[in-house]
Amino acid sequence: MRKYFVIFLCFFSFNNCFGSANKLEPMQQSWPFDGVFGRFDKQAVQRGFQVYKDVCAVCHSLDYISFRNLEEVGLTKAEIKSLAAEYQVQDGPNDDGDMYERPGKASDKIPSPYKNEKAARAANNGALPPDLSLIIKARPDGANYVYSLLTGYENPPKGFHLQEGMSYNPYFEGKQIAMPSPLSSDMVTYIDGKKATIDQMSRDVVNFLQWAAEPEMEKRKLMGIKFLLYMFAFTALFYIAYKRVWADIK
Ligand code: HEC
Repeated sequence: MRKYFVIFLCFFSFNNCFGSANKLEPMQQSWPFDGVFGRFDKQAVQRGFQVYKDVCAVCHSLDYISFRNLEEVGLTKAEIKSLAAEYQVQDGPNDDGDMYERPGKASDKIPSPYKNEKAARAANNGALPPDLSLIIKARPDGANYVYSLLTGYENPPKGFHLQEGMSYNPYFEGKQIAMPSPLSSDMVTYIDGKKATIDQMSRDVVNFLQWAAEPEMEKRKLMGIKFLLYMFAFTALFYIAYKRVWADIK
């Protein structure tokens, strides 16, 4: 009987039995994009792109974002053109049937750091650095999770068996991760002069990744608000009509 009771309890508190024993719940932060009136903080998104470009892009691709998409967060056409030209992009085949490399254009997708999955795994202790375009949506409580993951590295507690090439991070499933702590203070030099602490860079890159995962979020939220306003106006109108129609009968 007791056994069944324990199974029953486990079923209803699944997280307590399996989930959180294996990792911590993400730290809850407040974000400019939270809530019905949430907006992107374009400065933060731009700084976050800088963090992605200077740090994360060594290992992580961003397959769904083209250089020209960055116009939406305030980069000018000229800035995007010169940014794209910093990259070498594979194109082709040419008339001889060969692939060739050329400087990037605004319409190109941001190039991946590795040629293929095998090369990516070979460089990362067998683990695959996932594409970051949709990572905020692909993980529960994505923004808080990625923030916690980036700021959560620490020394393993006594007696914890850390496998070779792994780092201790209590927010990752199993608490050990093949990604070494990617950020350290002043790793990037922000163009707007903000101090690049680990906390600041983590926050900014989350703002950027949230935008990358759903660039149309602001439009979606605005539609929601408009819809509510319409509904409100209709309700008021129908109420007045109702009062008028029944006024003589009462
Ligand atoms: C040296 C290479 C390297 C760098 C630099 C790097 N990562 Fe990673 N990252 C990895 C690898 C490898 C994994 C897969 C880890 C695993 O499965 O154990 C990973 C996994 C992740 C994950 C997914 C975790 C999960 O829940 O599966 C996120 C999110 C992430 N990285 C974000 C970032 C961000 C943001 C940056 C830049 C600030 C960054 N990474 C920089 C190698 C890197």
